[in-house]
Amino acid sequence: MAAIGALARRAASLGRDFAHRALATAGLRQSEATISRDASEYWEDAGSESWKANSHWRDAPVFAGNDLWHEIGARHLTMLQRGARMVQFDRPWKRVVEWGCGGGANAVHFAPQCDEYVGVDVARASLDESAKQVAASCSTPFIPVRVDVENPEQALALIGGPCEVFLSCYVFELIPTPAYGARLLRIARDLLVPGGLALIQIKYDDGRWRSKSRRRSYKTGIAAMTTYRIPDFWQLAEDIGLTPEAIELVPENELDKRYAYFLLSKPF
Ligand SMILES: C[S@@+](CC[C@H](N)C(=O)[O-])C[C@H]1O[C@@H](n2cnc3c(N)ncnc32)[C@H](O)[C@@H]1O
Repeated sequence: MAAIGALARRAASLGRDFAHRALATAGLRQSEATISRDASEYWEDAGSESWKANSHWRDAPVFAGNDLWHEIGARHLTMLQRGARMVQFDRPWKRVVEWGCGGGANAVHFAPQCDEYVGVDVARASLDESAKQVAASCSTPFIPVRVDVENPEQALALIGGPCEVFLSCYVFELIPTPAYGARLLRIARDLLVPGGLALIQIKYDDGRWRSKSRRRSYKTGIAAMTTYRIPDFWQLAEDIGLTPEAIELVPENELDKRYAYFLLSKPF
């Protein structure tokens, strides 16, 4: 009976997704302002099991009875360290900025590697949760920075100084539009020291209709809102003044499908 219920829910969700994509294809896209307003409402309404899962909190059911929550950050740290060796980036990490830190799955692995860890998020509850997780794992100060979805650029003044490493994982897929991602790349460029590194994970558009950016109904398709063709994201980063150094593809993992990690550097 439970299996039938799950199948019915999956079918309903596929049907909804199909309907919204058809409307967007017919030209009925929502504006970035409308999608941002919905996103803001969603992330402010903390507490449900699905909200915690979408925010990668350690006690969300998706992480119960497995090591996945720890694996997330451990994998990203290994990836960034490998990239740093590849481009011979060997200076100390005085400040790491994580965009969309959620429940701290990356923070607990990266914070011990730096002097100061800045977690940026739109959800106050997730900043508190990250701070708690970091305090339990190391003595590096965790600096919480809350931004409004509509105004990510406010982080520049709130952070108030450069960083050696900029990290954003499991976030670009749930930003309002691809153009919003360009704003985040500009913020990364402005924050990074010359030679500094960014690791940005995107969900890629593989050419199929259903893998395009959704452009409507944020709350019913959070993790499908924004995708990029891999060459387009490469070009976007270059246009903004960041140098793509490497891409790592993860066609499928325990959480979802079609991930690409871009290692970007800021030119000297
Ligand atoms: C799936 S969690 C990812 C958490 C963490 N980065 C990880 O890899 O486990 C997504 C996080 O992005 C945050 N978020 C959503 N929209 C954002 C935005 N426009 N700017 C910054 N953070 C955002 C959410 O509040 C949530 O904490």
